[in-house]
Amino acid sequence: MKIVTCVAPVNIAVIKYWGKRDDKLILPLNDSVSTTLSTEHLCAKTTIMISSEFQSDRLWLNGREENCENPRIQNCLREVYALSRIYEIDGDISAIARQGSGSACRSVLGGFVQWNKGDQDDGSDSLATQLAPANHWPEMRILILVVHEKHKKISSKIGMEQSVKTSELLKYRVSHCVPQRIQDIKQAILNKDFERFAEITMKDSNQFHAVCLDTFPPAVYMNDVSHAIVNFVHCYNKLKGHNALAYTFDAGPNACLYMKEHDVPKVLGLLSVIFPFPGEEDSYIKGIPINKDTIPQEMQAAFGMEQQMEGSLKYIIHTRLGNGPKELKSQNEHLLTDSGVPKNLVI
Ligand code: DP6
Repeated sequence: MKIVTCVAPVNIAVIKYWGKRDDKLILPLNDSVSTTLSTEHLCAKTTIMISSEFQSDRLWLNGREENCENPRIQNCLREVYALSRIYEIDGDISAIARQGSGSACRSVLGGFVQWNKGDQDDGSDSLATQLAPANHWPEMRILILVVHEKHKKISSKIGMEQSVKTSELLKYRVSHCVPQRIQDIKQAILNKDFERFAEITMKDSNQFHAVCLDTFPPAVYMNDVSHAIVNFVHCYNKLKGHNALAYTFDAGPNACLYMKEHDVPKVLGLLSVIFPFPGEEDSYIKGIPINKDTIPQEMQAAFGMEQQMEGSLKYIIHTRLGNGPKELKSQNEHLLTDSGVPKNLVI
């Protein structure tokens, strides 16, 4: 019997992956770049157990049993078995993760990561590589603004399939915009040029959502609160006189904001004025502990944005970049009992 438990991080793309050139192998139309977040505040925890006593593969997700016949799960399991046969040889984990979900391949590395689209038909060169480790830019901070989701959203998988079929703008983005942006954001990251990083990140998020709206029927992911957050960021940058804050949005209404450490107290202070939190503030700001600034009346007036409805934001997570997945060695971290069933089953 062997049991292993790992935590894997969330990654947030600053140059988005949207559109596949091969749906089965999950090969993208364009390169993408992301930041890997710390596993301290957000992570996926997985326990894998192998035993000669087990009759078949079984898998539980959040305590509920899933069907192992799912083709994406099968692809990953097949690859992992192939790897374990050649046990001593290092395989590229990003190629396995990619076959579960494209963007997941960037989470196998820490810091700043590029997923190279690759050119081979078999996907052998469609891999993630690290651009810089997390400690390259230690002042970088992230706020995840969690917004209420009212409607059932279109999955990334379906949304991007529709975009590939119907969006002219996606073709233009892939051929004319992304290659230059990848070069530019790599330079900005290596030079720790926040202004440039922020501008490219915001423009790429905007273009990705423009592609979603150019899709027929349109894929609408941002809502009114998301647009108010965009407005907030531009008001903040105007107040500061430069791009000190950047937003990016994925296939949903939540925002991911990037800033340097010294801006966090002011940004949080202004967020709590413009997006008032109902009730106790402690439960709204999670993650790295921080004291937000008190915003003087004059600054509020100069900010130039109306106060939004109380409770527009569900909560905020304050976090930083991280070093990628890690194994948890302690016995009590395992999610499975000695007989291989979840400690916390949801019935
Ligand atoms: C908007 O990786 O979820 O977050 O490969 O079909 O599983 P599949 O899609 P997925 O798409 C992520 C899209 C995105 C942009 C990004 O993370 O690059």
